[in-house]
Amino acid sequence: MKLTIIGTGYVGLVTGTCFAEMGNKVYCVDIDEKKINDLKNNIMPIYEPNLDTLVRENQEKHDLIFTTDLKEALDDSNIIFLAVGTPMREDGSANLDYIYSAADNIGNSISKDSLVVIKSTVPIGTAFKVKEHIEEIIASRGLDINIDIASNPEFLKEGVAIEDCMHPDRVIIGAEKEEVFDLLKDLYAPFVSKHDRIITMDVKSSEMTKYVANSMLATKISFMNEIANICEVTGANVKNVRIGIGSDKRIGYDFIYAGCGYGGSCFPKDVQALINTSIDNGYTPELLNHVEIVNANQKKVLVNKVVKRFGEDLSGLTFSIWGLAFKPGTDDVREAPSIEVIKSIIDKGGKIRAYDPKAIETFKVAIDDKYIDSIEFVNYKYDAINDANALILVTEWKEFRNPDFEEIAERLSEKIIFDGRNIFDSKIKEEGFELYQIGC
Ligand code: UDX
Repeated sequence: MKLTIIGTGYVGLVTGTCFAEMGNKVYCVDIDEKKINDLKNNIMPIYEPNLDTLVRENQEKHDLIFTTDLKEALDDSNIIFLAVGTPMREDGSANLDYIYSAADNIGNSISKDSLVVIKSTVPIGTAFKVKEHIEEIIASRGLDINIDIASNPEFLKEGVAIEDCMHPDRVIIGAEKEEVFDLLKDLYAPFVSKHDRIITMDVKSSEMTKYVANSMLATKISFMNEIANICEVTGANVKNVRIGIGSDKRIGYDFIYAGCGYGGSCFPKDVQALINTSIDNGYTPELLNHVEIVNANQKKVLVNKVVKRFGEDLSGLTFSIWGLAFKPGTDDVREAPSIEVIKSIIDKGGKIRAYDPKAIETFKVAIDDKYIDSIEFVNYKYDAINDANALILVTEWKEFRNPDFEEIAERLSEKIIFDGRNIFDSKIKEEGFELYQIGC
């Protein structure tokens, strides 16, 4: 098939590349000329394992074309995917400016009947509004072109996005016509060995499915973080409780790891957007509101423990941070707990020495300028520890899981570790470490 993907952000780039990998001809279109030129030269705008290799191979096969020329792409495509960002506005609602500007461009450039598929995460009802918007522009150009609309949300996890895209748990297709379902089923058939993984439904339910999936996962995490806090005050251990409840198939082991809060580009934004959609429609969601509140508090838990140990005034103290990315496998620091931890420590007078395998540069861009002078970034994990008063683990990168504790002990000025992801075995206490974890 011939496809146009509008938006070469995380979702558009990964999805477009995977479609090309299956032999489709894919135009990845963006208005950002620098990004397109970089991609033509195989320079990636994000870090995602294996993405660079697949982009290069598919460009060499001429199945993947990066361009700023939307018209050229639309003239040669039968399906148009919208994969632009829908960032959170200050009031928590989804900002649809990129969606409508892309819809404007489609309306102004399109010259034949087409299917428009919304892959971006959009509030319920947006797909129909986008269709109307494009049709109005087409009508104003005096043309008679038929536009079909579909919703096809993405469920890609950063760090394993290629794997998720090539072998999805499910593909959700929301549409109105049998022929649209058939076309998209054909497109996705090579990605699913079992056809029941393609789930078809109405457009609004498909839009809702994306929000509900992420909100459910966020709810599991906030629930478990709350349980961790209760475990702490009662003397129970959340690591044992997790195994105890996860063994019940109805609950399962996944996404019930207590930690220092969830971050990323999706959970915080999508939970908030669902709250806003509910309120806009006259329903106040109590549970979702608290999922967010629990998470905001959880991002403070590590610093609360630091303050309990060292006191409110942290001046003269240096803290070593392992992990800046919101999770392992990515350079993304959006809504990362590391930001909250580092800012609070510096606000209390402390200094930071930080190491992350991938996210140092993105972190430097994300953090307010006033904090930068109090942070030293290093490129070797043990260098971050030199003469620090404590090590704080914020992101559970694999390389932190089995470190050399003798080396840590030698380099730290005090043998104190705050483990925000519960990855260290409590037996290190026997080697003289003070170990603070979440919920145990
Ligand atoms: C998420 C969804 O999983 C994906 O399907 C979606 O479409 C995009 O958003 P992603 O943001 O890449 O993916 O990260 P994910 O792996 O889901 O983790 C989100 C956050 O939850 C991370 O901050 C992670 O550290 C945290 N988390 C996850 C926990 O704190 N505990 C857990 O048990 C699992």
